This record gives sequence, C-alpha cells and structure tokens, in this order.
Amino acid sequence: MVQVASSLLSADFGQLAQALATVEQAPADLIHLDVMDGRFVGEITFGAKLIADLRPRSTLPFDVHLMVQEPARHVERFAEAGADLITVHLEACRAAGGRARPLLEAIRAGGARAGIAISPPTPATALEPLLDVIDLALVMTVHPGAGGQRLIPSCLDKARALAGRRDRSGQAFLISADGGLHRGNAPAAAAAGIDIAVIGSAIWRAPIPVEEIRAIRAAFAAGRPAGGGAA
Ligand code: DX5
Ligand code: ZN
Repeated sequence: MVQVASSLLSADFGQLAQALATVEQAPADLIHLDVMDGRFVGEITFGAKLIADLRPRSTLPFDVHLMVQEPARHVERFAEAGADLITVHLEACRAAGGRARPLLEAIRAGGARAGIAISPPTPATALEPLLDVIDLALVMTVHPGAGGQRLIPSCLDKARALAGRRDRSGQAFLISADGGLHRGNAPAAAAAGIDIAVIGSAIWRAPIPVEEIRAIRAAFAAGRPAGGGAA
C-alpha cells in the first residue's frame, strides 16, 4: 500500500497547527516538511524551530525534506527538533564539496532514518553507491522549490528503475515520489512501485482537505497492481 505523506508547503502557514490537525484527522501516514534555504532553491520556508514547535502537536512521523545547500551543517538540529526521517539532496552534498555517505551515516547514528533525494536532472544510477546506507530514496517528480507544479512523467521511470533495482538486490529502502501528484495520476505512481507519495497542493487546494487525503489514499489503493512492488 502506498503511504501518503502530506506536505504542509501549500497549507496556510498562518494556521499550521490547524493544518496539522487536518492531516492527523484524515489521517495521512506521514507529515512532509519542506525546508528551503533560498540557496539550494530560491524560496525560503522554515527551519528547525518550527518543526520542534509542531512536534508535540502530532503523533505522525515527521518526514523532513532538506532543500538546503549545506545539509551537513543542519541535520543535527533537525534530528533534535524531532524529525523521524531526514532527507538531503545528493546535488547539495556534491555542491558543498562533501560526500553523501558520511552524512547519511551521521543521520542514522543520530537516531533518525536517512533519505537521499534526487532532482529531475540527476539519474537514478547516481544513487547506486548509496543504496546500502539509505532508508529512503526520494525521487523529485517536479523541480524542487515550489508546490503546485505538473509532474514530470520521466521521473516516475526513475522511481520504477529504483524499485526494480531494490527488488533484485533484496535491499529494504523505501522509495518516495515528491511533486505534482494527485488522485488522477496516483495509479501511475503506484504502478511505478513507490512506497510513499508526497502530496501538497492537491490536498490544500481541495475544498475539503480531509476528504481529499482519503480520496488520494483510495486512488493509491486502486493503483497498486496485485502482488506488485515491495512494501
Ligand atoms: C517541492 C516540495 C514538495 C511540494 C510538493 O519542492 O519538495 O514536497 O510540497 O507539492 P505539490 O504536491 O504541490 O507538487
Ligand atoms: Zn518535499
């Protein structure tokens, strides 16, 4: 079954506690928190304090997506803030002159699960040397930096390739797709073999977000081919 990670990016930031309550009520499976630093992407969103302040208000796992230029400087703070899963971008690790592996190991050593994200231009094969040290591969299905974009279909092919690679190797990492997902393309995303769908604007632009989360969940349940993909 594909899990739904509800991104708060397109929620009303003036009413985040209410948005969190909505996601809990539906419920979604995870809360996806998009941290942007104005450097790795143009936009700036929020930092560890906001996540720490939200943490006592939710029982769901916090899935923190760091779209920041120097992730190594920040991961510890996000772990302390209560992130269950911390995902860094491969492109940011490379741009900072660092290697992703020690950072992913440090995230795990700090008690969180470790994720690595790839933007649309980065091939899935770039993750090959890291598959043994990750808990999650996050495939961006839009260009990082904004909600409300249209899904890039070729990015789902990368998720499919990773799912095939995982199933052949017996590795256990999860695969998420992030961006441009909605109930209309949920069957295609599920068929690609993803485990987690990150969804923002489709939820927050809906007239009744709780009902939309439930409808999206049902669409994913319908899309997974019988016996297909890893859990
Ligand atoms: C985009 C973020 C996404 C975003 C997805 O950079 O990583 O998590 O919230 O939003 P939608 O579902 O609107 O594409
Ligand atoms: Zn995200």
